[in-house]
Formats: sequence, structure tokens, C-alpha cells
Amino acid sequence: MFETLQALNADPILGLMAEFRGDSREQKIDLGVGIYRDQEGNTPIMYSVAEAEKRRIATETTKAYIGPAGSDSFNELTRELTLGKDHITLKENRLASVQTPGGCGALRVGAELVKRTNPACAIWVSQPTWANHIPLLGNTGLEIREYPYYSSVNQSLKREAMLDALLKVPANDIVLIHGCCHNPCGVDLKIDDWQEIATLAEKQGFIPFIDLAYQGLGEGLEEDSEGLRLLAQQVPEMIIATSYSKNFGLYRERVGALQIINGNTKSAQITQAQLGSTVRGIYSMPPAHGAAIVEIILGDSILYQKWEKELTEMRNRINELRESLSTHLTNETGRDFNFIKEQRGMFSFLGIDKTEISRLKEDFGIYMVDSSRINVAGINKYNLEHFIESASQVLER
Ligand code: LMR
Repeated sequence: MFETLQALNADPILGLMAEFRGDSREQKIDLGVGIYRDQEGNTPIMYSVAEAEKRRIATETTKAYIGPAGSDSFNELTRELTLGKDHITLKENRLASVQTPGGCGALRVGAELVKRTNPACAIWVSQPTWANHIPLLGNTGLEIREYPYYSSVNQSLKREAMLDALLKVPANDIVLIHGCCHNPCGVDLKIDDWQEIATLAEKQGFIPFIDLAYQGLGEGLEEDSEGLRLLAQQVPEMIIATSYSKNFGLYRERVGALQIINGNTKSAQITQAQLGSTVRGIYSMPPAHGAAIVEIILGDSILYQKWEKELTEMRNRINELRESLSTHLTNETGRDFNFIKEQRGMFSFLGIDKTEISRLKEDFGIYMVDSSRINVAGINKYNLEHFIESASQVLER
């Protein structure tokens, strides 16, 4: 039977990781996969995370099942971090939440729930979006459609085209929106864009599905969720997928959460049960360890402060790198790269062509996704010079 399976091309991001590992050149630079790296080029375990993990190991008394929704306390702390303690949806008990295996788990469970409720609807994603959104959401069988988002001509939001497209989205379709730090383009919605989208969602009756994978890595914990909080105040129903991979550095532990905002408490209770049964039919229950670490940190004011400080350092480093890359690349290549410092999060498109991308890889060992997306955090004091020098050789004026 398996002989009939078709050969596959490598995943655009994971395939590049493997290629990079196999490159023996010393000066190689990985700007591919979205992993935060520090000034030394490492992705160390955060101090707050290591501390919480010690506590967890010292106090954990059982490995018994935790149930499909995961930990209630983790879910509550996640709601507060995402929406703020005083948000109307919390006060009105309109949320159903589950702990999930990473943000990917949340995206998939969210899409499966949508499929159960309304299999005829489409999910609209930004053009472009994270490559893995398509299989994560589309493999449920739901139709995937696109709305315009990024202009590669002026490296900014296609605001009018986006709003025009959203004006035509039918009631009960789903619109996926990146909460902050858009992956792959780094162009985020401003608060008045969120406001416009909220008005359109109300008018059209489409349901926003927020992917929040980088809270705290753009402008700040509060700032990065301001848009989604505003939206959640105005629309009756909404979906939020949270990932703790990046902001807690818990990538391989797979920690995330899914929250469904409902029109009222009764509906939230029914959704909660539906979510539990959806999860039960896919992976039964989420893994506990990583989420327990997040729960300890979010629930302890001292550890929380330590974590927030570390997160701030990460964010500041990324934003400083953005400044530095903008200046150096613009000065050394004669092309305008000033957009890099206007964008947020780990990613930006350099906007260079396939030949240039491939020359950077073949001749200089510099790896980026073939859309020209770079992970800004892959740059450090040891490789900046090599990167700029190589770029100045490859990129024609
Ligand atoms: C990325 O976009 O590089 C990250 O989100 C990692 C991944 O799984 O693709």
C-alpha cells in the first residue's frame, strides 16, 4: 500500500534547517527557521523557565492524565495574559479554553471545531501567510481563501485592498489574522486597522481567528495584544490561538492554548464540551510539562517579573538588530532597506530575487527561506559583518 505514496518536496522551512545543518562551512549563517537567538547565536533556556522547571520537578506528585482541556489554572492565566484581567469577555464568562500542544495544536483544534460547526465555510488567510497555516487549517477539509495583505512594492500593508476584500467576506466565514509580528512579512496592523476590521466583522458577520504566536516580541506584552482585545470587545464570537514557543522559548515542549469567545455563557459551556470532544478525537489530551512551566511563571509575581525582563531583552535585541540591518544594508548595498526597522517581530522579507537568495547560500553560506524571509534574530555580532559584506557583493545597486 505505501508504495503508492507520492514522493514529497521538503518543507520550505524545515528542509532549509536540514540543509543548513549539513553545510560544513564555518561562516555559515542560519536566517531560516524562526527561533530566537541571543548575541552568541544560541537559544538558551530562559532563567525564569529553568527556575519554574526546577520547582515543577520538586513539587510534581503524579503523572496521571490531565484531561482534554489541560490545566484550568493554565487556561485562566492564559486568558488574562491574552485579553487582560478586566476584559468584558472574561467578566461575562464567554470563553471556552483548552491547553494545546503548541500554537499549531491550537490552530488545528480551532479549525476542527469550525469544521464541526460550519463545514461549508472558508478560512481567509493573509497573502502571504505562514506556510504551515495552509496544511494546519486546510487539512481539515475547510476551504482556504486569501485576502491581500503585504505589498512587496513598498514593503507595507495593502490597507485598502485588504479592507475591500474583507468587505466581501460572507457571514460565518473565518478570517485568520496575525495578532502581532506578522510571519512572514513583519508588517503589523495598527490600532485603526484593527478598528476597521472590527467594524467590518460586525457588519459582515465573519469570525476573526487570531494567531498570537509572538506576544511580547513586537512592542510589548500589552501593546501586542491591544488589537485583538479591541476586536474581542466588539465582535460576539472570535477564536484565539496562542503559542508559548517563542515568548517562553519553549519550542520543543509544545505549549499553546486555544480560546473561543462565545456570544454568551451558555454557549461557552457548550463550546467547552465540544472542544473537549474534538481534542479527545485527535490527541486525547495535551502534554503537561511545558504548560506547567508557563503556569508557574504566570502565577508567581516574582518569576513573572523575571520572565518579562528577559522577554524585554529579547524584544529590544530584535528591534536593535532591525535598526542596524536597515542602516548597514542600505549603506553597503545602495538599496533602500529602511523598511526593516519599521517592521516588527522576527521576520522581514528582504525583497531580493531567487538568484540573489541562491548566491547568498551557495557562495556565502547564508540561508534564508526562498521567499527572501529572514529571521532577524539570526544575526549577531560575530556574523553581521559577513552578512553585510556578502549582501553588498550579491545585491546589485
Ligand atoms: C517559522 O516560521 O520559522 C517558525 O514558526 C517555525 C516553524 O515551525 O515553521
